[in-house]
Amino acid sequence: MGPIIAIDGPAAAGKGTLARRLAAELGLPYLDTGLLYRAVGRLVLDVGGNPSDVAIAEAAARRLDPADLDRSDLRGPAADAAASGVAAIPGVRAALLDFQRGFAARGGAVLDGRDIGTVIFPDAPAKLFVTASPQERARRRWLELRTKGEDADLATVEQDLRARDERDSARAAAPLRPAADAVVLDTSALDADAAFRAALAAVREKLA
Ligand code: CDP
Repeated sequence: MGPIIAIDGPAAAGKGTLARRLAAELGLPYLDTGLLYRAVGRLVLDVGGNPSDVAIAEAAARRLDPADLDRSDLRGPAADAAASGVAAIPGVRAALLDFQRGFAARGGAVLDGRDIGTVIFPDAPAKLFVTASPQERARRRWLELRTKGEDADLATVEQDLRARDERDSARAAAPLRPAADAVVLDTSALDADAAFRAALAAVREKLA
C-alpha cells in the first residue's frame, strides 16, 4: 500500500496545485476534499436551502454522488461560502468520512483539505500545513478569478477569504489547524515551482 500524504491549510494557499503535482510525482491518486464540501453546499443551494441548516445539509451530504464533484459551479464566492457553511456541521463531516478514508485505503493517496492530518488520517506518515499571508493568498485567488474572466475586486476577495478562514478555524468540528506533527510550509515568498520543491523535499524526508 502506498503512503497517505495529508496537505492542509487555509483558503487559497495553493494546496491544490501542490497536492496535484506531488501526487503525479509520487504516482499516487489525488483527492481535493474541498470539492466534497463544495458539492454538498451546492446541493443545498439547489433546493433553495441555507447552508447552515443542519437537516438539509446532512441530507445533501448523505445523497452526495461522486458525479457531483464534476459540476462546473463549485468555484466562486457563493460556492466558497456554501462549502464553509456546510463544513461546520458535524453530521456533514461524518457523512463524508468513509468516502475520504476509502479513497486512500486502496493504495495510498495525496489528499488536501483542512482536517486531513488532524481527523481523517491522523496517522499519515507525511503531513504538510501549507500557508501564506492573507494578502498573498488573496492576490493568488484574485488572479485565478481574473484568468477565468471574472471581474473580481481584490479587497473583496481578501475579505471573503479572511472571513472563511475565521469560520473554518473557529468551528468546533474539525477546525482548521496544523497537526502537531505537520511540516508548516509558508509559501508567501515562493513561486509554484519553489513551493513544489520544498514540499517534495519535506515529504521525501518524512517518508524516508
Ligand atoms: O480552494 P480553497 O482553499 O479556497 O477551498 P477548498 O479547499 O475547496 O475548501 C472549501 C471549504 O470547504 C473550506 O473553506 C472549508 O470550510 C471546507 N473544507 C473542510 O472543512 N474540510 C476539508 N477537508 C476541505 C474543505
